[in-house]
Amino acid sequence: MILVVELGDTRFFFTAQGYQVFASDISEEAVQETKMWLEKAGLSANVNQGRMTQIAHPDNTFDLVVSFDVIYHAFRKDIVKTISEVYRILKPGGVFYGTLLTKDRGSQFREKSSHIVDEQTIVIKSGVEDGIPRFFSHMEDVFDFFKDFHIESLVYNEVFDTVLKDLPK
Ligand SMILES: C[S@@+](CC[C@H](N)C(=O)[O-])C[C@H]1O[C@@H](n2cnc3c(N)ncnc32)[C@H](O)[C@@H]1O
Repeated sequence: MILVVELGDTRFFFTAQGYQVFASDISEEAVQETKMWLEKAGLSANVNQGRMTQIAHPDNTFDLVVSFDVIYHAFRKDIVKTISEVYRILKPGGVFYGTLLTKDRGSQFREKSSHIVDEQTIVIKSGVEDGIPRFFSHMEDVFDFFKDFHIESLVYNEVFDTVLKDLPK
């Protein structure tokens, strides 16, 4: 069983491969939209509204948890809570695949519309993410967040720097 703690493109990949997928997102709108897309595609998954900090599944349930561009949308304490929830619901030997933002390349700190909360946290002040935090991790944060995990692979992805390189400084 796979839990997709988010509602991105991965839902289609895993459901289309025939895995039993549970997906959740805090946004009811995202939940409804995803249900609609799945129906149109003739696929099925168990999609529910839910907070990543309090995952509604028993311990040792999932082989894989996927979370792409979600868990950094939180203050540090909620990221720690989320990762402890992921650990709790994974089976022994289970795999987590997810993304964090890096402070090393924290170009989003330059966004005019952001409120800077502290050295690593901003809160977006416009658009669909209005009021939602973003946490930028140092490498030592990553090792601290995942201290109970065996880290198999850690990859820098430059997508945000590429997209945002032309923003005004
Ligand atoms: C940048 S979007 C990424 C969506 C999707 N994973 C993708 O790759 O297209 C961030 C998602 O995280 C969800 N989210 C933010 N805070 C959350 C929380 N505390 N618990 C669960 N989902 C949350 C938002 O509703 C939004 O759908």
